[in-house]
This record gives sequence, structure tokens and C-alpha cells, in this order.
Amino acid sequence: MIANFKQTAIKAALEAGVILKKHFGRTLNIRHKGEIDLVTEADLKSEQKIVSIIKKAFPEHDILAEERGLQDNQAEYKWLIDPLDGTTNYAHGFPVFAVSIALERKGEIILGVVYDPMRDEIFTAIKGKGAYLNNKKINVSATKSLSVSLLATGFAYDVRVSPENNLNHFSNFILRSQGIRRAGSAAIDLCYIASGRFDGYWEMKLKPWDTAAGSLIVKEAGGRVTDFQGQPFSHYSKEILASNGKIHREMIKVLSYK
Ligand code: IPD
Ligand code: CA
Ligand code: CA
Repeated sequence: MIANFKQTAIKAALEAGVILKKHFGRTLNIRHKGEIDLVTEADLKSEQKIVSIIKKAFPEHDILAEERGLQDNQAEYKWLIDPLDGTTNYAHGFPVFAVSIALERKGEIILGVVYDPMRDEIFTAIKGKGAYLNNKKINVSATKSLSVSLLATGFAYDVRVSPENNLNHFSNFILRSQGIRRAGSAAIDLCYIASGRFDGYWEMKLKPWDTAAGSLIVKEAGGRVTDFQGQPFSHYSKEILASNGKIHREMIKVLSYK
């Protein structure tokens, strides 16, 4: 059964990726959800494609997709979908964005698929079965200390108005690591932890569809995912700290500084 779920998620992610690539770099119809929070035609078209493929294959499952929200909430299985993670990048023609699809069973993520159409990279994980990039097994990095680690983070859409804007953590980490990247796609950040390209990642105020797939991919690649105190992570929680495991305690310490 899980193999069918995975096959369908991959098909949906690849087809959505074709749509995103086709519209990339063209003038888009853009609507503002907030002052700096956008939604483009491509988000909507990608989501329609993914939802239609999943609904056709598994009509009894629930679906939580970013742009349409949750329609029902009683099935054993729930799909969590970000049809375009990295909308700001996409709208500016910056080629870093992804499709993220996860499957939750009774509250737990059992499948994650993240597709980066620009690099044609598909990251997948099934709970208990390891993590893969284009069908090759991946592992987190072996970096042992924060001072030689490459980190990633992001900033929420309320950065201009909220005092919890992540700038304190950003300045604490920039002085203690080898560098920080703000690539603009939480799903890709997590997959880059899983594949050893980043060593650590933290972010606040993300939504379940941003982290559901990527957090499983990190765990299945041997990494650790918690909140900022080191407590178990839930994709419904407000904070995420993901790392190769080896620098996790150092990161928790830095996140405790005011
Ligand atoms: C955003 C990206 C970004 C993160 C934002 C997210 P979106 O998702 O993942 O990296 O910093 O907080 O909301 O809006 O492009 O799907
Ligand atoms: Ca997102
Ligand atoms: Ca999105």
C-alpha cells in the first residue's frame, strides 16, 4: 500500500513540477495574501494538479493543501501539500523552489516527497525505510562542530511587524558558524540537511505543509528534528530545529540566548 502512496505522490510532484517550470520566468498574475506574502497563478495551478491526482487515486483520504485549506478531517490518511514552497523566489525569477507532499496517518508522517524541478531532484522517504535523492540513499553530514557548519534559516512573513523576527538567532549563529544561507524554501532547506549540503537549520512560524515531508526526510537520513529546546518535533508546532544530530546540542544552546 505504501508503495502505491509513494508512486502517486511522486507522479503528482513531477507533474506539478512541469507546471512550475513552464510558468517560471513569465509575467504572472500575483495576488498579495499579506504585505510581503504572495500567491501566484503557479501556486494555484500546481495545487490543482496535485489535488486532482491524489483525489483520483485515493478519494477517501483527507487533503490539507496550502491554498485551499482542509476540507474534511476524519479519514485515517491525510495529505499535506505545499504546491510551491519558495513563492517569493519564484515570483522574482530566483530558481530555488519546490513541491512538497507528505502523507500523515493518525497524526504521524509516514511518507515525504520533495521535488525541485529546476535541478530535477526528487527527495523521498518512507518512515523506517531511509531517505533517497533520485533513488540513491542519502545521509546527513558528519560535521562535528558548529563553528565549521553551514546553516540555513528563514524569516516569516510577519518579519516587519513581529518582535519574534528571528534576527536575534540569526546574529547569534552568524558569529558562531561557517555561514548561514537563506535560500527561501523550507522544504529544500530540510532536504539539504538530509543530503549533507547543510549541517543545521532552524526556523519559526512555519506551517505543517512546509515541514511535514522534509522533517521525515531528515530523520530517515539519520538527522535529528526537534523544537528549540530539544523536545520532539511535530509538524504542527511553531519551531523547528533540524541538524545532522552532531551539532544539535550546540544549536539548542545558541537558541537559548536572548
Ligand atoms: C515559505 C518558504 C520560506 C520560509 C517561509 C515559508 P512559501 O513558504 O518555505 O523559506 O522562510 O516562512 O512560508 O510561502 O513560499 O510556500
Ligand atoms: Ca511553504
Ligand atoms: Ca507555498
